[in-house]
Amino acid sequence: MDHKAYIAERLPLEGVDREEIARAIAVPPDTAMGDYALPCFKFAKLLHKSPVAIAEELAAAYPTDNIIRSAEAAGGYLNFRIDTCGLANETVSRIESEQNAYGSSDMGRGKTVCIDYSSVNIAKPFHIGHLSTTVIGGSLYRIFKFLGYRTVGINHLGDYGTQFGKLIAAYKHWGNRDEVQRGGIHAINDLYVRFNNEATEEMEQEAREYFRLIESGDREANELFDWFKELTLAYVETIYDRLHITFDSYAGERFYTDKMAPVIEELKEKGLLVESRGAGIVDLEPYGMPPCLILRSDGASLYATRDLAAAIYRKQTYDFDKCLYVVAYQQNLHFKQVFKVLELMGKEWAKDLVHVAYGMVSLEDGAMSTRKGKVVWLEDVISRCVEKALSMISEKNPDLENKEAVAEKVGVGAVIFGALYNNKIKDIVFSYDKALNFDGETSVYVQYTCARAASVLTKAETAKICYEGSEIDDLCPQEADLVKALANFPDAVKSAAAGYEPSIVARYAVDTAQKFNKFYIDCKILQAETEKLRARRLRLTRAALTVLTNALTLLGIGVPEKM
Ligand code: ARG
Repeated sequence: MDHKAYIAERLPLEGVDREEIARAIAVPPDTAMGDYALPCFKFAKLLHKSPVAIAEELAAAYPTDNIIRSAEAAGGYLNFRIDTCGLANETVSRIESEQNAYGSSDMGRGKTVCIDYSSVNIAKPFHIGHLSTTVIGGSLYRIFKFLGYRTVGINHLGDYGTQFGKLIAAYKHWGNRDEVQRGGIHAINDLYVRFNNEATEEMEQEAREYFRLIESGDREANELFDWFKELTLAYVETIYDRLHITFDSYAGERFYTDKMAPVIEELKEKGLLVESRGAGIVDLEPYGMPPCLILRSDGASLYATRDLAAAIYRKQTYDFDKCLYVVAYQQNLHFKQVFKVLELMGKEWAKDLVHVAYGMVSLEDGAMSTRKGKVVWLEDVISRCVEKALSMISEKNPDLENKEAVAEKVGVGAVIFGALYNNKIKDIVFSYDKALNFDGETSVYVQYTCARAASVLTKAETAKICYEGSEIDDLCPQEADLVKALANFPDAVKSAAAGYEPSIVARYAVDTAQKFNKFYIDCKILQAETEKLRARRLRLTRAALTVLTNALTLLGIGVPEKM
């Protein structure tokens, strides 16, 4: 049941959009006042009355029933109280029948969302800076899919640029085939770092030549480039596997090599491309932005040129309704410029391009020394978290089976959750201890709650207790709070999609786990006074486990059965 829509539908008020009312209805943080609240300020102008008077009139005229039990005015707000038993029966039955689809929807049917995320750079370290784009993008991918959209996950590889000429030059001078094959990305990165530290002017010259050779299709240069790319991808894929990340396309910057000329032609035709000191630019001064660089004075294309070609290609290929770019806020200007240029080119769909910007992730000071000096490899962060998780689990539960597998879920979950829990635009400092705190606002806490619920259910099963379909005709406050949280899950998923904000689901999971734990601690489940009460509580326990599992799954986090 969508209570907001239900209330909006019946609100005795003429001449207002029902959907708008539904959107204005909020869940108050303190449910002592009510289960839903409608602020009446927005109607003051329309009705020429004070919000207080409006709330009072609406409260008196609202047709309460067995779903919405009361409507009361408080200040300029109209507070509603729902029939929680009715809600409980409906919600729990729905969770039982829908299970891992509970919270999903078909609202996206027929619509396509492209999501550009992770977008790693070939031959460069996959470092902690890529964590957010990878897990935020991965989670949005799942959330939109869950809501019925066709989703296209795109890894816009950074596989274009002069650095590849440098890499080939370095390999030619210092490289060894076996060593690079064995060392993979780390060996490649070493070569690249060495080139930047030690290259002579002569080697720089060679590098430029190799880049030109790649561009002109030279076989040897391209074979080497492809090999470096293969080694990088083989490496990053092991990390994607651990993080449960997938892509539908790996079309990177290089893919657009032959797709830029038509874009440049179009820019010229439309009189947008102007020359400035030998370079080709689009003037964005009227929009308060620096010019967008399209062609360098030597004729080479730029990052923005490739993004223009990529956007046009994606529209043609996928006919998206939205195309998201999950990229750090440092690239705010870049995307503003690219979107503006597309708009100036007359692409009406430019309005459907969204830069989903996020903040920086750094590690707590002195938290680790890295294999490679300054750069913190994501792999090392994950491994260290999993190791820590393993030692914590071994201490807490020495007899647990499959400790390694559990530690992998817990450790990886902590890394993912660390990057997802806060509003995405905030800069975050990752702390191993905080991320792995069993009592904190963490994924471990949620996972532990799931294991706790699972253990109760296993005991019930062993004792052959049957609790299917028992009617819910009473609820204590702890149970009522839990039910309301469970009923709000579909809403949380939709809000996360609407705001491109997986943290809404992450916070929902912690909040609901807290409600479950309050219920678990205050209320007897297996030892409940009557069989009826026990059945009701077991149903609630199972429903909570389903919903928490669904929430974690949307974030890409696994749920161990035991912990
Ligand atoms: N490879 C780029 C970087 O590491 C990110 C690419 C983002 N996507 C895009 N279409 N520009 O900064």
